[in-house]
Amino acid sequence: MVLYLSEVLARMSALRRYSFLLVGLLCPAVIAVTSQAYTWRNVKIGGGGGFVPNIIFNPTEKGLAYARTDIGGAYRLNADDTWTPLLDWVNNNRSDYWGIDALATDPVDTNRLYLATGMYTNSWDPNNGNILISTDYGSTWTASPLPFKVGGNMPGRGMGERLAVDPNSNNILFFGARSGHGLWKSINYGSTWTQVTTLLSTGTYIPDPTDTSGYNSDKIGIAWVTFDSTSGLKGTATPRVFVGVASKGSNNIFVTNDGGATWTAVAGQNNTYLPHKGVLSPSEKALYVSYSDGAGPYDGTMGAVYKYDITSGTWTDITPVSGSELTFGFGGLTVDLQRPGTLMVATLNLWWPDANIFRSNDSGQTWTQLWEWTAYPNMSKYYTYDDSLAPWLGPNYTYTGTDLKQIGWMIEGLSIDPHDSNHWLYGTGATIYGGHDLLKWDTSVRNVTLSSLADGIEETAVQQLISPPLGPVLLSALGDIEGFVHDNLNTVRTTEYSNPTWTTTVDMDFAGNIPATIVRIGNGDSSTGKQVALSLDSGSTWSQDYGAADNMTGGHVAISANGDTVLWSTSSNGVLVSQYNSTFTVVSSLPSGAIIASDKKNNSIFYAASGSQFYLSEDSGKTFASTTTLGSSTAPVKVVVNPNVSGDVWVSTDTGLFHSTNSGSTFTAISDVSQAWVIALGIAKFSGGYPAVFAAANIGGVGYFRSDDSGATWVQINDAAHGFGSVSSNVLTADQRAYGRVYIGTNGRGIFYGDIQ
Ligand SMILES: *[C@@H]1O[C@H](CO)[C@@H](O)[C@H](O)[C@H]1NC(C)=O
Ligand SMILES: *[C@@H]1O[C@H](CO)[C@@H](O)[C@H](O)[C@H]1NC(C)=O
Ligand SMILES: *[C@@H]1O[C@H](CO)[C@@H](O)[C@H](O)[C@H]1NC(C)=O
Ligand SMILES: *[C@@H]1O[C@H](CO)[C@@H](O)[C@H](O)[C@H]1NC(C)=O
Ligand SMILES: *[C@@H]1O[C@H](CO)[C@@H](O)[C@H](O)[C@H]1NC(C)=O
Ligand SMILES: *[C@@H]1O[C@H](CO)[C@@H](O)[C@H](O)[C@H]1NC(C)=O
Ligand SMILES: *[C@@H]1O[C@H](CO)[C@@H](O)[C@H](O)[C@H]1NC(C)=O
Ligand SMILES: *[C@@H]1O[C@H](CO)[C@@H](O)[C@H](O)[C@H]1NC(C)=O
Ligand SMILES: *[C@@H]1O[C@H](CO)[C@@H](O)[C@H](O)[C@H]1NC(C)=O
Ligand SMILES: *[C@@H]1O[C@H](CO)[C@@H](O)[C@H](O)[C@H]1NC(C)=O
Repeated sequence: MVLYLSEVLARMSALRRYSFLLVGLLCPAVIAVTSQAYTWRNVKIGGGGGFVPNIIFNPTEKGLAYARTDIGGAYRLNADDTWTPLLDWVNNNRSDYWGIDALATDPVDTNRLYLATGMYTNSWDPNNGNILISTDYGSTWTASPLPFKVGGNMPGRGMGERLAVDPNSNNILFFGARSGHGLWKSINYGSTWTQVTTLLSTGTYIPDPTDTSGYNSDKIGIAWVTFDSTSGLKGTATPRVFVGVASKGSNNIFVTNDGGATWTAVAGQNNTYLPHKGVLSPSEKALYVSYSDGAGPYDGTMGAVYKYDITSGTWTDITPVSGSELTFGFGGLTVDLQRPGTLMVATLNLWWPDANIFRSNDSGQTWTQLWEWTAYPNMSKYYTYDDSLAPWLGPNYTYTGTDLKQIGWMIEGLSIDPHDSNHWLYGTGATIYGGHDLLKWDTSVRNVTLSSLADGIEETAVQQLISPPLGPVLLSALGDIEGFVHDNLNTVRTTEYSNPTWTTTVDMDFAGNIPATIVRIGNGDSSTGKQVALSLDSGSTWSQDYGAADNMTGGHVAISANGDTVLWSTSSNGVLVSQYNSTFTVVSSLPSGAIIASDKKNNSIFYAASGSQFYLSEDSGKTFASTTTLGSSTAPVKVVVNPNVSGDVWVSTDTGLFHSTNSGSTFTAISDVSQAWVIALGIAKFSGGYPAVFAAANIGGVGYFRSDDSGATWVQINDAAHGFGSVSSNVLTADQRAYGRVYIGTNGRGIFYGDIQ
């Protein structure tokens, strides 16, 4: 339960950041900004960091598979088990493209790939959805707009796939919409879509009708589309298609036998639960269905697995466990296409002690499981755990400090390679696991290797990055998985911050004069006490700041130059300050939610901004006075201070970028910058020169820029292949040792670092 809540909270925080996105309007490009070629690479955490709703193998082309994520785009599998991101080009114009609600790989022209994109169906995402179409395995794309929203990060996103290509006539696709918009069809490879009005059922299930945010109060809609490839002939439309809709207590599986002209409910179905997956076993002429009583991915306390024999029209309950053992729903379901009758199904959320996966080689009559109780509390684990590609996952992975899950949770995507019965993959709330010796399961050895196999997938929602001038080059504050010390940018991380351990770290800062002293804050794990922690050794070890009250969380944090004072702009308790670890007290002279920063040289000085006002404190944050206004700004984003010069301050706002050299007494607006988000100062191009200024900004267009002359001129440093998604969600810091190097933290695609080519 703790997991469930914290996962929701963490995700919601990512969502909330996204909802600030009201920008992306481009001015006419009248400002001449040159570009500089940068090399962009992921900072390697190793193996995921977020929910992987599904993994989809192409049934025809050996080795071809894709993974989709809910907020970080899609990936293609490589022969060496690594993954290649496919949507890094997505920029602020359409960051909703990183929400993937469904993926279809064409079984005929295997180069063709389709994604149903869109982040939210409620007000958080203003955009209608798209079908993104690629004819080169995801290297390049065209968008086909849909007349309704798509919810890649909505409840029920692990059900599916709701997008499918006709295996006999691959110009035909069906897409099952959310929100009651029903079933849609394309007959031209996804270019245009029309509603299939003959399927009257559009799904009635709503997770929580009372949710006023709209997030849990929308209909999940049509959950999956499964063509019966055996019902048709190559070259003509497949007549029989099954559709699963999110309805409970009324028919929820429908079939057409005439290519979608007419539909009937499949007779004899049990509609007690929501059908999460409908998987065809062609040689058995069977449809296997997994059910859960919730839409997922977090919920589900009951479920079932059924087999539908298409020829005889009979349903068989093949649920692997029953009675008091059945405390979960079922999600991921897969058949071994080379071994008719072999299938596997996963618990969607067996939170304690761990998820389980069931396997049958007799069409579900009997099952064996990945682990079972021997004599409680002892378990027999029929697997060898290997997290070498993502050691932070475990075996002592401490998601909430106490949780020792290895198999995972939120398992909606489970797939056996259609060309290799030994190869399997599944997605969890945090990564992809799988292996290459699955057939061992059926032998007397019955001990498969369970490996972390998400190498190349970097799916974290980055909350903050700092790059102190000494010690590790980077420290991250991450959603869901706490954050790491990055003493090496290219090797997997082993341990998150601990003591205290929170799910999400929301902000960090280092003390300018003693940069090994670092403060970090968390966002609301009330189970783990204080939400402020201090490290005196560059993040290696931490201790709780006992000056913090248990019930205060989130926001922004700054630590004074000598490390003795922490200023904390909390998420809902105003701005607080604590010196020498004393109890945090309210700073009444600052508005709640103020953006804050510390001077990096003078221990008494802090800065703040709120609305149009800039504020200065010269008494260690006890009192602030407004110094001046920031033009016509209404929303400051970030205050950064020259690490070497007291009083040299930059502020980014909704109307531009402002620079002061007198502690904020006066500011100069930087010309040509019409809006700025995150900013950072890195070391100067030439020794003794002014620091390089980095900004996510609108300078004749939204992008990432560097100035080597205090903002007089800029070069754009990102390119068409590196968009970094939603600009308002991203964080940025500059390296204090390598000129030109900058770090960009994204909301769902992990951390990038860029170097001048
Ligand atoms: C339908 O499924 C529910 C839940 O598994 C079960 O209790 C009920 O007996 C089933 N109904 C029939 C007619 O099989
Ligand atoms: C569990 O395993 C341990 C170590 O093998 C053993 O000492 C203990 O008796 C077992 N517990 C039960 C209840 O069988
Ligand atoms: C499978 O192998 C692992 C490690 O090699 C071992 O810990 C586990 O006990 C084995 N499982 C069984 C059931 O023998
Ligand atoms: C996991 O924890 C156990 C028990 O505390 C310890 O013996 C083992 O070394 C730890 N493993 C790793 C990889 O940290
Ligand atoms: C089917 O599974 C059972 C149970 O794991 C196993 O004993 C049997 O050998 C398997 N049969 C085949 C043909 O793999
Ligand atoms: C924190 O919680 C305590 C106990 O519930 C309460 O008395 C106090 O008012 C809370 N403080 C704030 C700032 O919410
Ligand atoms: C604050 O507390 C930490 C952790 O207990 C301690 O290491 C540090 O020295 C204290 N700092 C001050 C300024 O008292
Ligand atoms: C630090 O700032 C305070 C407040 O402005 C000032 O009084 C003091 O002289 C400064 N210290 C140094 C070393 O410049
Ligand atoms: C700060 O000063 C140090 C020492 O002169 C220098 O190495 C470093 O590059 C400067 N940092 C910045 C951001 O200018
Ligand atoms: C999207 O962003 C790019 C890069 O900033 C820009 O060139 C382009 O014109 C923008 N607008 C659209 C509609 O693509």
